[in-house]
Parts: sequence; C-alpha cells; structure tokens
Amino acid sequence: MALQVGVAVLWLGLLVQTSWAGQMPLLFWLVVHGLVAAGLSHWRTREPWWTAFHLAMPWLALLALQWQLPLWVYPLLALLLLAVFSPVLKDRVPFFLSSDQVAQGLLQIMDQRQTKLFVDLGCATGGLLVSLARSRPDTEFVGVETAWLPYWVARMRAMRLPNLTIRRQSIWDLDLKGFDLVYCFLSPDPMARLGAQFDDQADQGARLVSNSFQIPGRKPGQTLPVQDWRESVLWVYPKA
Ligand SMILES: C[S@@+](CC[C@H](N)C(=O)[O-])C[C@H]1O[C@@H](n2cnc3c(N)ncnc32)[C@H](O)[C@@H]1O
Repeated sequence: MALQVGVAVLWLGLLVQTSWAGQMPLLFWLVVHGLVAAGLSHWRTREPWWTAFHLAMPWLALLALQWQLPLWVYPLLALLLLAVFSPVLKDRVPFFLSSDQVAQGLLQIMDQRQTKLFVDLGCATGGLLVSLARSRPDTEFVGVETAWLPYWVARMRAMRLPNLTIRRQSIWDLDLKGFDLVYCFLSPDPMARLGAQFDDQADQGARLVSNSFQIPGRKPGQTLPVQDWRESVLWVYPKA
C-alpha cells in the first residue's frame, strides 16, 4: 500500500508541478505507475508475485472506479481485511490453514506421545482444532488467536465441543507450561522467538510441532513429511 501510494504521490506531484504531465493520456500514467511500482517492488523483494501485483494495481483501481461502488465499500473492505490479517502487521504471520493431511499427521504424533493437552498457537478459524477435538474426545485442546474475525468464528465452532477452548490471546502472552504438544503454523519470522519461549516455559517432556517453518539453528528430534499439495513437513522439537 505504501509503495502504491508513494508512486501515486510522485506522479500527482508531477501533474501539479509541470505542464507536460497534464497532457499525457491516462494510459501513459497507468503504464508508468505500474512499471515504477513493480520495479521498486522487484528491487526490494525479488518476489514475482508482488511484482505482478504492483504492475496490475493501477488497472485494478481503474476497474474498481468503473464499477462506481458506494464510497463506504472501500473502508468496509479495509476493516474486513484488518479483522483477518492484522497479525501480519505485528508478527508477519498471515492467515492460511493446515490441511486435512496435517491433522492426520498430528493425530499420529499425539498418539505416539499420549497427548493430554494440546495448544494451537494462532488457531485462525479453528478448523484444525475442531477436527482434532472430534477425533480425540479425551484430549483437551486450546487455541489462541489475536485476529478478531477468525477468533470469533473459532469461538462459535468450539461452542459444542467440551474439550476445545478458544482464547483471544497473543502467543507471546501465553504460558506454555502444562501443554504436552504445542503446535504452530506461522511464518519464518517468529520462529526463533517462539523456540526461545518454548525452551523457557514448556515442561521437560513437551514437544513443539511446527508446520513448514523451522526454528533457525536447531535440529528437530523428529520430522514428519505430509502428503498434501503444499508438501508440508511437521518439524518436531524437544526442549533445548
Ligand atoms: C497460518 S495461520 C495458521 C492457522 C491454524 N493454526 C492452522 O494451522 O490451520 C496463523 C494464524 O496465527 C495467527 N497469529 C499471528 N500472530 C499471532 C499472535 N501473536 N498471537 C496469536 N495468533 C497469532 C494469525 O492471525 C493466523 O490466524
């Protein structure tokens, strides 16, 4: 957003300050805006997905203007996005969900370790926990989530499951003591901090299972590849 707004301010400045800019057709500005934003994005991130996004953005904005949607639609969409994705701003962890195959892998690990208390750090809409709680009614499940909308969806879904509790709480404010299996599917960014928190708080026999993202500089005690479309891997860590 900052990049798109920054580039728009640049050419709006040119429009105000120069006479030639105002004579250029809209098509010119759409192409120039897209190219400048995409170039800057490529320079900073080298992510093809983001480059394509920035290239397309002025055209998408033009399309949206042609729909002539009422003005309140845009702040409403922004609020909805914030309600789902706000943790991206703080912890750089987006919203996406574990697959059914990951749930199967977790059941396998839970059975091996005779898990009694399981926590999903950042449980999103709670789908994984609901499926696990139904499969293992004798195990207690806890989910914590900070994003407002997914939290409420998870709360509703947990209502009829006596062995599932959902809390609106940050991972960093949760005490990991007492949980024998700690599960997370986050992003590379918080893994070092989470590893340190687990070592600090968890009980001796507890395990941290991370879907896809490893704790930097640590060897997992067990690795479980999962046959899903992401080719997820469950990395199982004991306390250091
Ligand atoms: C990739 S999703 C994983 C969802 C779910 N655990 C699963 O495997 O299906 C990560 C979730 O963590 C949440 N999250 C990110 N930072 C958090 C924090 N500090 N405390 C609690 N939840 C957080 C995000 O809102 C998001 O819903």
